[in-house]
Amino acid sequence: MSCYHHFAKFQGRYLLRTIHQLHSRYGPTVRVGPHEVSFSNQEIIKELYSYQTSFMKAPVYDGMSMRPVGIFSMRDKKEHNQRRRLLSHAFSQSNLLDTEPLIKEHVNELLAFIKPKLGRPVDMLTTFRRLSFDIVGELFLGQSFNGLKSPATPRFLIDLDSHFVLAGIKMNFPLIYYILELLPIAAVRHFFASTERNRQYGKDAFENYIAQYGRNSGRRDLLTKVVVAKDDEGAPLTDLEIYTEVAHLVHAGSDTTSTTLTYLFWLLAKHPEWQSRLRAELMTVPSCTDGVFTYKEVIALPVLDAIINEALRLYPAAPASLPRETPSGGRNLNGIFIPEKTVVSMQCYTTHRHPDVFPDPEEFLPERWLDEKAVTPEMRTMFMPFSAGSRACLGINLAWMELKVITATLLKAYKVQLASSTTDESMLFLDHFLALPKSGRCDLILTKAESTEPTTNSGLGTQVK
Ligand code: HEM
Repeated sequence: MSCYHHFAKFQGRYLLRTIHQLHSRYGPTVRVGPHEVSFSNQEIIKELYSYQTSFMKAPVYDGMSMRPVGIFSMRDKKEHNQRRRLLSHAFSQSNLLDTEPLIKEHVNELLAFIKPKLGRPVDMLTTFRRLSFDIVGELFLGQSFNGLKSPATPRFLIDLDSHFVLAGIKMNFPLIYYILELLPIAAVRHFFASTERNRQYGKDAFENYIAQYGRNSGRRDLLTKVVVAKDDEGAPLTDLEIYTEVAHLVHAGSDTTSTTLTYLFWLLAKHPEWQSRLRAELMTVPSCTDGVFTYKEVIALPVLDAIINEALRLYPAAPASLPRETPSGGRNLNGIFIPEKTVVSMQCYTTHRHPDVFPDPEEFLPERWLDEKAVTPEMRTMFMPFSAGSRACLGINLAWMELKVITATLLKAYKVQLASSTTDESMLFLDHFLALPKSGRCDLILTKAESTEPTTNSGLGTQVK
């Protein structure tokens, strides 16, 4: 278990569930700190997380980023809009489809990685983590981290974990952070230098990329799209802005996807009936000639959609409060005057568990998404694993592509079972900013699937994004 997992365990146990319990007890408006109020009703989602919102990201985001800040932490509306427009092009559906062959190489590596381990417990959290880092490394740095190929954890990942621990300490215990920063102890200094090492890694990778492929490489990755992108005045990003932004994208696009895949496969291991339903659905897809599905083949499969939606509902990778700052003059929310600069937030862990909107909220029930007519407007609003509005996930299309292609490819080939070390307790969902299982691992056993499965009714299907 990495120190990141230890830290998440220490911090996450309290916040996520405590806020959830407070809402269950006191209703949709709860004061959770001297200057912070948490909400849980859908009317407030529109206030805080819409395209027109005047609630900007709270100051806490300042501590989450390297400098110069990337899109994720930009708090100024104009600056953010401009960066978002510039980057959106790279994330368009057609550009993403262009990257498929690169992603496919890594899914093939995943199959090769798993093959010799069939019938034995494999830590799927580490496996999916390495896979998702390899993919975003390939797409945004022009080179894979080779996590699935190397026995040791790549240096970048270790430094990234350290960076998150530091960001967490800075956000929650700033005084302790500044005291630690002054300590002349070699190990502590090394720990603090992790952020700089990551930036250097990004810089080196970027320079290698330009030296190898040039500035208009035509390579089917996303870095080339970021390099040639221009802002409204026609200016490109500087090299420093590119490799810092790209490092942020690597963070944003890796642990999110791997945590989702981990919980998804854990849920499937606990619910073999849904494995069978999904495999039956996958058997109806004509292609998959070389073992890896194309996105086009699996983009609109109702059971696959329903299973992923339900995993994202129960275990969203970013389950916690997304804090925003009340604009000047203050605002009335739920009939209460909230003074300006008060931090206001919602956590999707709670909106996803509203019992009136999602009956039996703790149960894994993919069927709630299967009949499109039964998916209510309230479900669509309260379901926000990728957040909503102008600050919603920029990588949502990439995330969906990875989740669908990887889940379909693995599930068609393999059955998944729980290893004895994997229990509800070991998988207890802890949040730091991103979520993790309490044990820091998820051991599952994969075995070859029979080529024919009993077919079951796959339902009508919907896709909620
Ligand atoms: C299952 C996978 C993912 C989930 C659940 C997820 C979730 C989220 C959430 C909840 C936010 C809002 C955070 C906030 O307001 O503080 C966000 C923002 C963001 N995500 Fe994702 N994400 C996923 C995958 C990705 C991927 C693959 C990328 C691409 C590299 C990505 C890039 C971003 C970026 C750039 C932002 C900031 C957008 C902005 O502020 O304009 N995400 N994501």
